[in-house]
Amino acid sequence: MVRNPVSIDRVGSAERIDHDIETLAGRDYTLSSTAIRRHAYTDVYANTLSYFRRQFQDLGFDVFEDPVGTLVARNRPAGEKVFGLGSHCDSNRNGGKYDGTMGVVTALEVCRLNRDLSLNLPLQVISFLEEEGSGFGQMLLGSRIMARRVTEGELRQPIRALGDDRSFWEHARAAGYHPECWRDSIQVLQDLVGWIEMHIEQGRVLQDTGNRIGLVHAIAGCIHADVTVRGRADHAGATPMDLRLDAGLVAAECMLELERLARAAGHGTVGTVGEMELQPGLVNVVPGVARFSLDIRGVDQDAFTGVANGIDSFATDVARRRGMTVEFRQRQAVPATLMDQQILDAMEVTVQATGEPFMRMPSGAAHDTMCVADHVPAAMIFIPCKDGISHSPLEEASSMDAALAAEVMLGTIHLLLA
Ligand code: HGY
Ligand code: MN
Ligand code: MN
Repeated sequence: MVRNPVSIDRVGSAERIDHDIETLAGRDYTLSSTAIRRHAYTDVYANTLSYFRRQFQDLGFDVFEDPVGTLVARNRPAGEKVFGLGSHCDSNRNGGKYDGTMGVVTALEVCRLNRDLSLNLPLQVISFLEEEGSGFGQMLLGSRIMARRVTEGELRQPIRALGDDRSFWEHARAAGYHPECWRDSIQVLQDLVGWIEMHIEQGRVLQDTGNRIGLVHAIAGCIHADVTVRGRADHAGATPMDLRLDAGLVAAECMLELERLARAAGHGTVGTVGEMELQPGLVNVVPGVARFSLDIRGVDQDAFTGVANGIDSFATDVARRRGMTVEFRQRQAVPATLMDQQILDAMEVTVQATGEPFMRMPSGAAHDTMCVADHVPAAMIFIPCKDGISHSPLEEASSMDAALAAEVMLGTIHLLLA
């Protein structure tokens, strides 16, 4: 067995990770008393960034934010090559303590270990804005801005806050940021020689197979869209069944067809209707409008884009048959992303040296690493989360597993830069 060049006091690291996680689960860091809820341009999110800023400054890192609020901390002057690590610390609206935040905390722990072991590795941590889309309904927004996967027009207009329907642009300006400089954000990536994101798996494969570490070789692509069906709102009692234009029924047929298409596509393709609105949404009125969301993902690009095209034409045909109209509006599409083989191989050597059980696996969830990978050799490392529960306050993960991931990340970076 190869000796790990970097072995750490995992119990000590786990204690520090626990302290960070429990602090950031406190009332100053979430809008909800029953879940973790924090997103861009809220006080609780600003408090979270301030917490990380203090921790990195205590380590002697320079800390700044990109023009829209993605946090960056580095231990080398601008222009010098560094290895990147990080994740996001915003949360799902009904989030848990670990999704994203565990990745930024573990990156912070790697920086602490780098100091404690006097390795002096060149590091840059990034905590991306709005990975979850909880503020503006747009997943991976901060990293898509950094990778220039959005347009200025989208930032100025259609990307609007879920709370008050004001544009992302307005909110960023009101929070003191400079969205007009959004194109400069990509400079954050220019010094990176590599990138590793640590994240909880958000599934149950690692737990059910008895593995403590997942080395992610591919991240599923994702299409988010909204389908709006327009029928006619009629009295629920006085309107005979054969005279109705019930938009809800088109939505119902589409949900079942989405399940059929996703199963038929194979390759692990999945399809979900997570949001559904019926208007006017009253017990005694036939819904005249139905709006539902689509979340379609897979590691096989043709398979999942085929499902999206299939449900689009199915909705059009069903609506037409029932005498109604339908509008399909894509929110965003992120392609399936392969991870960097050299970083994966270095992580495999390092995790083998620990003797702990691990496996290579795909990620079904989307991550900011998909955007980083456009510009930098990138990979991800997973730890288990209990019963695969995520996007829920019931989310649980082990700080000892996170400490092991920190050891693997530090060892990998040391191996790659040695
Ligand atoms: O939904 C996702 O894939 C991520 O957790 N935002
Ligand atoms: Mn996440
Ligand atoms: Mn998430």
